[in-house]
Amino acid sequence: MSASLATVAYIGATILFILSLGGLSNQETARRGNLYGMIGMSLAVLATVFGPQVTAEGIPMIVGAMLVGAIIGLYAARKVQMTQMPELVALMHSMVGMAAALVGYATYVDPEASKNLDGAAHAIHAGEIYIGIFIGAVTFSGSVAAFGKLSGRIGGRPLLLPARHWLNLLGLIAVIYFGREFMNAHTVQDGIQPLFIMTAIALLFGIHMVMAIGGADMPVVVSMLNSYSGWAAAATGFMLSNDLLIVIGALVGSSGAILSYIMCNAMNRSFISVIAGGFGTTAAPPKPTGEAAEPVGEVNPILAAETAELLRDAKNVIVVPGYGMAVAQAQHTVFEITKHLLGKGVNVRFGIHPVAGRMPGHMNVLLAEAKVPYDIVFEMDELNDDFPDTDVAIVIGANDIVNPAAQDDPTSPIAGMPVLEVWKARTSIVMKRSMASGYAGVDNPLFYKENNRMLFGDAKKMLDEVLMSLKS
Ligand code: TAP
Repeated sequence: MSASLATVAYIGATILFILSLGGLSNQETARRGNLYGMIGMSLAVLATVFGPQVTAEGIPMIVGAMLVGAIIGLYAARKVQMTQMPELVALMHSMVGMAAALVGYATYVDPEASKNLDGAAHAIHAGEIYIGIFIGAVTFSGSVAAFGKLSGRIGGRPLLLPARHWLNLLGLIAVIYFGREFMNAHTVQDGIQPLFIMTAIALLFGIHMVMAIGGADMPVVVSMLNSYSGWAAAATGFMLSNDLLIVIGALVGSSGAILSYIMCNAMNRSFISVIAGGFGTTAAPPKPTGEAAEPVGEVNPILAAETAELLRDAKNVIVVPGYGMAVAQAQHTVFEITKHLLGKGVNVRFGIHPVAGRMPGHMNVLLAEAKVPYDIVFEMDELNDDFPDTDVAIVIGANDIVNPAAQDDPTSPIAGMPVLEVWKARTSIVMKRSMASGYAGVDNPLFYKENNRMLFGDAKKMLDEVLMSLKS
């Protein structure tokens, strides 16, 4: 393929990626957005493999690597549970980071890459390598730490070393110092040592940064690492002189940064305070996820048949799904119940919290899979004022996102986080298996409210019973 044809293909791929991001911003166009992304990526891969930068001898190696990657990817996609997606995403970000760091080293030791470079061109080339390896190493170790936290292999509580901000500053000064050494090195032998030291500091920095962030802030960390992986890819693009990689990396980097910002707003947290870490340590220590909370009052249990009765008599119903719906895979039964109630003239709507579940858009994906129409699915802000006019608010496996303590208790670790105000409905029904806390590990005063009922049991099983009662 000629260089000009490859450039045309790259421009086409770039346009498709931009259209893809645009499409993914809305549920109705998300499918098309995905398709654009897939076509764009195929075009980009083909133009790169058959483009002028790859020699004929290199093609079998690339095809072999692609086959191995495709087999691992297919296996992971089939095997991974929907609830394990954030861990998988964190692991994939770590691969991007590792690739950027390895490409940096390969470019540095490759005599061809720096041939004919002198003066400013040489300095820019060295700077690209140094910054690229730094971003790659931070992304790699930070993502591995995030994987450990999300999969429960490492505890969710923030690890706060004494003088941690000073340690970070010291690390940064060392990175700048060794950067100077690296730029002044005349041979690979002289430059490789400062590069190794900087890589070690960057790896420690990535781990330290993520370990200091509390469990409740992990959603922001995942999207922040997504952004870093984009910048790591852009840095790789600079090192390989690949314009497409630079553009795509910048697209991923900036969209990840925007998503992090939106999620911080949704949790009423400032971006800086998330990065600085330590969220949730000023109040009483949160219990690890799933541990039973101390009972602080009486709860009113309810049976599935009584729930069906309340739903049958209701005019307005709001369904609030959470992580437990994903665990129970209850989305199809939820839709069966919704269809039944809609058929009886009940106004049923869904209220989605921006951080419900374990990844951005988690609930939307599940509801779309169950074919719930988009026009009855609303964001938190769109229907939070409607709860006082709602007969039944039914909470399916959600906990933190409906916790009134976020508004009422300034000492709560989730204080200030916007929540769905289900307790303002005439009756709220919470479906969960026990009195255990949610992800943030805090007790939920909603359970003890007078107008709240607890439907204990697995969400799928209980909803099946509700549906049966509704139909009988
Ligand atoms: P959580 O607060 O984690 O609560 C989920 C509840 O579901 C649990 O209390 C659990 O109680 C219940 N549950 C689990 N399995 C169930 C089953 N089979 N049937 C019925 N109930 C079940 O979830 P949420 O309200 O969706 O809030 C999300 C939390 O995760 C927030 O704190 C958020 O910050 C965090 N987070 C979000 C993300 C993103 S990006 N969305 C990523 C990481 C973390 P039982 O054990 O008693 O059943």
